[in-house]
Amino acid sequence: MFKIVPTPCAVADFVSDLLLQHIERKPTTVLGLATGATMEPVYAAMAQKIQQRPLDVGRLTTFNLDEYLGLPAQHPQSYAHFMQRHFVEPIGLRAQQVNLPDGTCTDTAQECAAYSQKIDAAGGLDVQLLGIGSNGHIGFNEPGTPFDCTTHAVELAPQTRRDNERFFAETKMVPTHAITMGISEIMAANEVVLVATGAHKAEILAQLYESTIDERLPASILKQHPNVKVVLDEAAAALLPSHLLQAG
Ligand code: GLP
Repeated sequence: MFKIVPTPCAVADFVSDLLLQHIERKPTTVLGLATGATMEPVYAAMAQKIQQRPLDVGRLTTFNLDEYLGLPAQHPQSYAHFMQRHFVEPIGLRAQQVNLPDGTCTDTAQECAAYSQKIDAAGGLDVQLLGIGSNGHIGFNEPGTPFDCTTHAVELAPQTRRDNERFFAETKMVPTHAITMGISEIMAANEVVLVATGAHKAEILAQLYESTIDERLPASILKQHPNVKVVLDEAAAALLPSHLLQAG
């Protein structure tokens, strides 16, 4: 389950290879994608490798985990904008291949139901890439989210808003709500790859390692997934038992 490599760069190398090999094997791959600083080097490595060794990405479909409510796609901190900058343009995808919840929708319940249906209609997710919040959230499924939920609107936890305020000019500009893919959709993916780098993730990863499956720690549900990889750099893995580090 754990793959520990020395640096964020080595993490990006490992995860980008894993995703590209998947797309090579199955060009119609349905990829569940994440945002966040952790993913930036992963996407950059994918784009660089595709330049060196062209790959058919024209039949790929992507679904992002989440989007802030209230931010239009053109807002520099929207996840739609993040994906455009870090993935869609560098990888060379067409707009029709890319799916994110609409942060400006007027009927949130309808948007969530439509997003779930679209994932189903695509045949579900082949691979879901995940980061982890410092409170253990996956997507924006905050502590306490029922494990059986599908795509839904959430109020962001105070800690999540604090963690993400570095991206905004002022705390009060951090959105209070978001739409997130649900845990049941994440768990239905054939393969899940959770990625974390940096010393600031060490504490939550140690909690995740020790935890039983508990809705207070959303990522703990992954222990039930039959095909999950947790890819970490040594800093993020620093509080895990040393035999995991030695296994590499
Ligand atoms: C946000 C996203 C998550 C992501 C998390 C970690 O809250 N909704 O999907 O995993 O941030 O982000 P970072 O990689 O910046 O630590």
